[in-house]
Amino acid sequence: MADTVGTIGKSWLIGLASSLREEHDYAPEVDGVLPRGLKGTLFRNGPGCFEFGGVRKRHLLDGDGMIQAFDFTDKGLRYRNRYVRTRKFLAEQAARRFVMPTWTTRAPGGVIRNVGNKIRSQAGVTTLVKNGCLYAFDEVGLPYGLDPDTLETLGERQVGPPQLRIDYKAHTKTDGRNGDWLLLGVEHGPRTWLNVVQRSADGELVSHQRVAAPRPSYIHDWFFTERYVVVLLHPVELSLPRFLSGLASFTDSLQWRPDKGNVLVVLDRAGASEPVLFSADPSFMWHSLNAFDLGDSIVADFVGYDEPDHFLGEKAAFRAIMCGLQGLQQHKGKLRRYVINLPRKRIIQEVLSEENHEFPMVDAAVSGHRHRYGYFTTAAESTVFHNGLARVDMENGSREQVLLDDVHLGEPVFVRDQEAGPEQGWLLSLGLDGRTGNSFLGIFRTDSIGDGPIARVLLRHPTPLSFHGYWHGR
Ligand SMILES: [Fe+2]
Repeated sequence: MADTVGTIGKSWLIGLASSLREEHDYAPEVDGVLPRGLKGTLFRNGPGCFEFGGVRKRHLLDGDGMIQAFDFTDKGLRYRNRYVRTRKFLAEQAARRFVMPTWTTRAPGGVIRNVGNKIRSQAGVTTLVKNGCLYAFDEVGLPYGLDPDTLETLGERQVGPPQLRIDYKAHTKTDGRNGDWLLLGVEHGPRTWLNVVQRSADGELVSHQRVAAPRPSYIHDWFFTERYVVVLLHPVELSLPRFLSGLASFTDSLQWRPDKGNVLVVLDRAGASEPVLFSADPSFMWHSLNAFDLGDSIVADFVGYDEPDHFLGEKAAFRAIMCGLQGLQQHKGKLRRYVINLPRKRIIQEVLSEENHEFPMVDAAVSGHRHRYGYFTTAAESTVFHNGLARVDMENGSREQVLLDDVHLGEPVFVRDQEAGPEQGWLLSLGLDGRTGNSFLGIFRTDSIGDGPIARVLLRHPTPLSFHGYWHGR
């Protein structure tokens, strides 16, 4: 079982924690044949730079946001990567070193320099296109807007009511049928406030609800259905005094408190009724798969860990890799389902698969509605560095997967094949090949994942771990 005793088992995985400072623009080679129907751009976002001026981030999940774009056009294929020019990025380029605190790493200079600990946006978690704007989200502050054609940074963009400067979660939700765009903003302080913002498909601000959370928690992702928003407060507590004193970074001020269990806050999207709270067994969630209304109930599927040992603590795998160590990663990301019956005020949690999963994905067309298939990264072992992809049929429980040797595979972005049926198409997964040391974009057919990639777009260099992507069809 993995621990921190040895160096990381597969040394080439350290490529995930290596910076990509250069900004590229080239036509990559392809191994295999690209599907004819695959036309559009895959945008990805994630940390691109982990060290600067002798300072290295303490955690793999921390670095300046770097957008990658894979253009699939009739004229051919193009790859670009470009940093989001946040205020932090520009100031540190001028200073030629990291000078500002980020969510896992304090500013150089000790406690005095970190009192108040105002962590800065790196705009490096998610990306998506809305009404002609390419957004880059962090979990602090407002998102940044970029030109989707040139990748030029245009500046911060307000996504909520004017003048409301809060921390918007990187994960936003788009209704697969009507295009409603939902955002969740969180205010940390003596009380934690949840802000749900709803915009119509054409960008109009439709509503804003602000409700007090029953307790503080670190939230990364959440659920929505046609009628409800569900916020899962897992028992990750933030010690605000420790954080604000400058003694510890944000992540070093977090503590897993399983004795407190999970609390779910169910909000009526129309605001017609008061929030309803439910209690459940503790499990840590990075990502929801999807949720939908089913009669009087809400069905909410997600990947949950019994403990976030890979994320929190001195020996966490995401931290150890920065020093070339294996770290703790003993708990699997199991596929779980909440069934929440509102009139009976009852919640059931089921484990749908004990296998190891992360980066859940559905066809965007069924987001917020009943889905049949869930797509994931996977691994046979208890590791957060996955080497496979899986498809789970939520109706009959069958599961198909592929595991590749000496390869890391990232989030599988779903692209619908217009000539195939609903929820059928391709998965685009950015991988790192241990044999060449370079990254590639693997393209898999959803109905034959087990056959491996039908094509691989071959990059000329490694890319750091990229969190999330968005397919912008043409
Ligand atoms: Fe995420």
